[in-house]
Amino acid sequence: MRSNGCGNLRAENIGSNVTLCGWVDRCRDHGGVIFIDLRDSTGTVQVTVDPDQGEQLFSLAESLRNETVLQLTGKVRSRPIEAINEKLNTGKIEVVTDGIKVLNEIKENLPFSVSVHDEEQIKEELRLRHRYLDLRRERMNQNLRLRHLTTKTARNFLENEGFIEIETPILTKSTPEGARDYLVPSRVCGGEWFALPQSPQLFKQLLMVGGIEKYFQIARCFRDEDLRSDRQPEFTQLDIETSFMQQEEILSLNERLIAKIWKITKGIELTLPFPRMKWDEAMDRYGTDRPDTRYGMELVNISEIVKNIGFKVFSNAVNSGGAVKCITVKNGNNSISNVRIKPGGDIFSEAQKAGAGGLAFIRVRDQGEIDTIGAIKDNLDKEQKSNLLKQTGANAGDLILFGAGKTEIVNKALDRIRQFLALELKLIPSTKDNNSWKFLWVVDFPMFEFNENEKRLEALHHPFCAPNEKDIGSQNEWQEKLPKSRAQAYDLVLNGLELGGGSIRIHNPSLQRKVLESIGLSSEQTKEQFGFLLDALGMGAPPHGGIAFGLDRIVMLLTGEESIRDTIAFPKTQQARCLMTQAPASATDNQLDELHVASTWQVAE
Ligand code: AMO
Repeated sequence: MRSNGCGNLRAENIGSNVTLCGWVDRCRDHGGVIFIDLRDSTGTVQVTVDPDQGEQLFSLAESLRNETVLQLTGKVRSRPIEAINEKLNTGKIEVVTDGIKVLNEIKENLPFSVSVHDEEQIKEELRLRHRYLDLRRERMNQNLRLRHLTTKTARNFLENEGFIEIETPILTKSTPEGARDYLVPSRVCGGEWFALPQSPQLFKQLLMVGGIEKYFQIARCFRDEDLRSDRQPEFTQLDIETSFMQQEEILSLNERLIAKIWKITKGIELTLPFPRMKWDEAMDRYGTDRPDTRYGMELVNISEIVKNIGFKVFSNAVNSGGAVKCITVKNGNNSISNVRIKPGGDIFSEAQKAGAGGLAFIRVRDQGEIDTIGAIKDNLDKEQKSNLLKQTGANAGDLILFGAGKTEIVNKALDRIRQFLALELKLIPSTKDNNSWKFLWVVDFPMFEFNENEKRLEALHHPFCAPNEKDIGSQNEWQEKLPKSRAQAYDLVLNGLELGGGSIRIHNPSLQRKVLESIGLSSEQTKEQFGFLLDALGMGAPPHGGIAFGLDRIVMLLTGEESIRDTIAFPKTQQARCLMTQAPASATDNQLDELHVASTWQVAE
């Protein structure tokens, strides 16, 4: 239907007759000459309709609405010097048309403009309802192309390393990754349900038992969890598993993969190896296991200095096993008012959202004189003040914010405030600066965390991660040592976002049983839920490990988008709904009967 892509025409094509297809980006009537910007996936070209081509053609061109689909013929000619547009790839030429065929008219009013010339803020709801139009916009079109280049690069890299791509089932059994399952009722096996995979975790391990050795998959995963800008109910993992590789080999392979993706998609050379940080250190210095290391304002533990100063909030926190930690806001003395830190203030409310009861603070005035509201100042002697300034690195003009209480809550509160203030104070370098891609491997996670509500241990990653061999000792020490062991687990963090996570897996069935027992599964539950895995581990499972990256998140960072919705062709809203198809939707009584399902849903009064 066409001889060239609109965006591919250059000065070399001058004099050629071409046939083009595409959408009318916009039409401009320049007193006697009509210019049509014709757009296809390759770009836009200016088409000129001269009146001397005949009245019929001219009046057709005059009547064209934006987004009409056209096929046209014409000759490429150079633009007059004054009309050359250096910003456009096709800016040196234009196509003088001698025939236009309308392939499809615009029947409906367009809800928004597709053209880059109308870069307006379009409501996301409207974009999602008419996603096909939204995808036609340059920004989304480019995002999907970059997504393709990312998966293509990953495929090429992994293939060259000897990996093969294998699909695992979508209708399956629960694969525990910490979220709720999406369930599918079975018509044939009445009363029974499939779960959609939260990840291909168990299947990829079974592929290792199956002698595949090097597997990958661009895998769709499903998790029914609260959604945020970096979470979707249906998302894609770049999922990898290998046999006979230790943790360091896996990290090294995967950072080479990431470096390749950044090189091919963005032309950026990343420096390898990426830094590694132990989980303990990340929690201590940043209060989170996915620290944004592009800026400072680190947390400092000052429990030792303040535990005996006679300030009850601090001493109680330390004496009951918690901590007092602080962050120093450079020049914060002038820029941040007391109102914002006290109850009702925005900074206070960040701490509150993390569960903290309050925030103490110190202002470092001129000459390093400490000034506080309330009790702390009078409780600090000269030496303690100077120790505090030394340890925090605070100088005249700075503000120190304190959290005191349970270490977890203190960490959470200060992490929130650190991120909140970094944004406000513009401490975060833009990724347009190539040095500000701060990758970090966080390693040595604990195996478990304690779930206060359920009063039981919970796997921090998932219960298939192998414990650190040094920590668990021999089999008769497992009972005592396992709960406090570190896992051979690792996360790749980029600029404060978790890009991927993985681990070396347990390949010993007795140890796997013990771990499942530790998280509270009875032997019957273990057998019922994971019997097939335990059987397989007992039939020659090789040592193995792997990782999964969030593909949508990788593309979000590469494209500079703020939401993974802008990297997915047909995403869901925060309510896990597709606004275009209106899924989910009700099912007919017949369908439910066939599936042996009855709905208990009642519309709220
Ligand atoms: P994990 O649960 O850490 O590990 O998931 C791996 C990566 O997937 C991405 N991710 C998501 N992206 C978008 N929306 C979501 N709801 C969502 N949930 C997770 C994140 C995350 O780092 N089976 C293990 C991997 C392994 O051990 O090999 C797993 O799924 O970027």
